[in-house]
Amino acid sequence: MRAHPPTLTARRHGPLKGRVRVPGDKSISHRALIIGALAVGETAISGLLEGEDVLNTAKALQALGAQVERPAAGEWRVRGVGVGGFAASAAPLDFGNSGTGCRLMLGAVAGCPITATFDGDASLRKRPMQRVLDPLQRIGARTLAATAGRLPLTLAGAREPIPIVFEPPVPSAQLKSAVLLAGLAAPGETVVIEAEATRDHTEKMLALFGADVRVEPQGANGRRITLAGQPELTPRPIRVPADPSSAAFPLIAALITPGSDVILDGVMLNPLRAGLITTLREMGASIEQLDTRQEGGEDVADLRVRAGALRGVEVPAARAPAMIDEYPVLAIAAAFAEDTTVMRGLKELRVKESDRLAATAALLRANGIAADIEGDDLIVNGKGRAPGGGLVATHMDHRIAMAALVLGLASEQPVKIDDASFIATSFPGFLDLMRSLGGVLS
Ligand code: S3P
Repeated sequence: MRAHPPTLTARRHGPLKGRVRVPGDKSISHRALIIGALAVGETAISGLLEGEDVLNTAKALQALGAQVERPAAGEWRVRGVGVGGFAASAAPLDFGNSGTGCRLMLGAVAGCPITATFDGDASLRKRPMQRVLDPLQRIGARTLAATAGRLPLTLAGAREPIPIVFEPPVPSAQLKSAVLLAGLAAPGETVVIEAEATRDHTEKMLALFGADVRVEPQGANGRRITLAGQPELTPRPIRVPADPSSAAFPLIAALITPGSDVILDGVMLNPLRAGLITTLREMGASIEQLDTRQEGGEDVADLRVRAGALRGVEVPAARAPAMIDEYPVLAIAAAFAEDTTVMRGLKELRVKESDRLAATAALLRANGIAADIEGDDLIVNGKGRAPGGGLVATHMDHRIAMAALVLGLASEQPVKIDDASFIATSFPGFLDLMRSLGGVLS
């Protein structure tokens, strides 16, 4: 822990105006590096998110023998080692704050006959890893020390990986992806049966690189994903679209700051990531989609967002996987809506970078907004305005930090956060971008 973490205060000023592009998508950035490292030959990536989480994944891949270079800002080249080809690393792999980097790499290492130690910061050391280790053990990997399912842990990858049929006990793209990445090294078919579909970037990118991946509907909201093992992955250039989870912060800041009119360029609109936009439109938000097009195999559009009145809604639990990272900032929009917003089925928020359910409720209450947790539901009593004036504990969680600052840009009194340093894990340049729109952050 640093002696003096950098505090930051956001305060209300004029409307937000301008046109900006948020950094590249975090999920796609991790996957482009990892799948590039498992391909044979050179993968060129443009628009990679250069946040700390993704940089830690790049370092881990280098430690395992892939060549990773950055010829220019946002431009990356990965020379892969082929499926199953990672070399052992003597030094532990440090994933910092990133659950995605750590869990995807556990899967990628589990299919290789090597041993590696995985570690992370105090937040990541608290997060559950057993959910990933369980299926990886069925594939043939072993954990070498008693870990109680937490980092640090040492994983011995499988010498002869076994293809499995896996039904994730929780809707988690990280868990699905870990199993698919491990299954690459197994002969035969690895199958993941999701009761609720989660973000599909891994299966899409594997297919793009030439793997045989079949995706079929399963039940009401689920999918059955079948991966044929031991493909030769062929590099394809990847252009990373703008991250909808990062775009959520300036987007909601514009909706709740009177008079604002902002355009967010090139935001990815993958349906399994677009739950926030659906919800905000139900709340009455003005979000116009301009120039919808394809970038890097995904639908993207420029979003024109104008401030206006919002009303409270009920957000169904079934929508949670498509907006799992957006609830803290949606709760800020809910505070500025007229009437109550109920967000259902948020159990997974308890195991994010912080207990985000508790941290979001505490953030609101510290700023004079009535919020309750009932079971796994979050209920926000919107009043069309927010008093503000609070000091927010961010708990090493970038999204709690940015949500609190968005609140401060529109609340009556300024909002202060205890530690701004974790914003750099996912959204380097957040402060400059918000200031360029007219936000006052000091
Ligand atoms: C991610 C999946 C989500 C999300 C995280 C990124 C991914 O986690 O919260 O920020 O890239 O696969 P879970 O899959 O654990 O819900």
